[in-house]
Amino acid sequence: MATEPVNINEYQELARRVLPKMYYDFYAAGAEDEHTLKENVKAFSRISICPRILIDVSKIDLSTSILGYHISAPIMIAPTSYHKLAHPEGEIATAKAAAASETIMVLSFSSNSTLEEVSASCSAVRFFQLYVFRNREVSAWLVQRAEKSGYKAIVVTVDTPKLGRREVDIKNKMISPQVKNLEGYMSTEIVSDKGSGPQAFANSYYDASFSWKDINWLKSITKLPILIKGVLTHEDATRAAEVGVDGIIVSNHGARQLDYAPATISVLEEVVRAVGGKVPVLLDGGVRRGTDIFKALALGARVVLVGRPVIYGLAAKGEDGVKKVIRMLKDELELTLALAGCSSIKDITRNHVRTEHERPQ
Ligand code: FNR
Repeated sequence: MATEPVNINEYQELARRVLPKMYYDFYAAGAEDEHTLKENVKAFSRISICPRILIDVSKIDLSTSILGYHISAPIMIAPTSYHKLAHPEGEIATAKAAAASETIMVLSFSSNSTLEEVSASCSAVRFFQLYVFRNREVSAWLVQRAEKSGYKAIVVTVDTPKLGRREVDIKNKMISPQVKNLEGYMSTEIVSDKGSGPQAFANSYYDASFSWKDINWLKSITKLPILIKGVLTHEDATRAAEVGVDGIIVSNHGARQLDYAPATISVLEEVVRAVGGKVPVLLDGGVRRGTDIFKALALGARVVLVGRPVIYGLAAKGEDGVKKVIRMLKDELELTLALAGCSSIKDITRNHVRTEHERPQ
């Protein structure tokens, strides 16, 4: 591609060209048949945007806030693992790009830099993503370190009692790199004779018995707000609000866990209704366009998070690539607002979108 990428899909193509196959596959893959992977993107295309005309859109304000923190646009960086497989500067480059873009990075537990190193390099607001270990002391230790290093929220991922079956990783015999946050405590560099190292690591250490009652344990070990990541039904959304989490992330883990789980945008509204405004609802999965972000906001998301687009930007052009990817999404969102007749995020309403089952009134 001789010219600059003009959309996220072209960044993906650039990343595919520069990365070793094993790493590109690791980032791009979904679980099993990759049905949900395709659906995450396709489901957005089944929603129409219904513009309003003759509205002054000469100035557009994309800014918003989450948990009281101001961000320049409703776009955050989702937690994704092992950024040094994409670029030598890894999570540090991503964190710097987040700061420059005035947004929030959720640092994955499975990072190639420690959470302290990321803090030292990044002035922006950061959240820390946690998996709960069978040995709860490991998780408690991580939470304490995140608190001490100035992270502003804990994002607990609850869709991973075991790792989903990503068949390319099995075929490629993907080696699990060292999780830097655990360096000196345990080696995570696992080569599995059954195939995927990450799968072998997760299945050995993550706590598959972690359940609703344990959210209280998590609340008891931290003063930080807790966001629960991996909610896909109204039943679980109601329960999450009842147990007193501070936010809900509608997510299917970028389609890497349960295949045939619904596309996130298709269940967003049922979650939003169940939560009834008690806590903010966020969404990730398949967001590739400014129009996707607009649709998610119209259906009630407070902000969206992007996973793979950030990795593709990082792989293609390091810190600058991440900045450009976020800039691209912001520019597309700004244009969408203008063309839909909204001058700020709060102007976007449910009536600005129509799902495939809805007929014009
Ligand atoms: C992820 N995701 C993820 N989630 C999490 O809670 N902890 C993690 O360490 C990871 N790691 C990870 C690695 C890679 C390569 C991908 C693609 C995804 C899931 C991530 O937070 C998010 O839910 C999805 O990436 C959102 O979908 P899109 O934007 O990638 O389509």
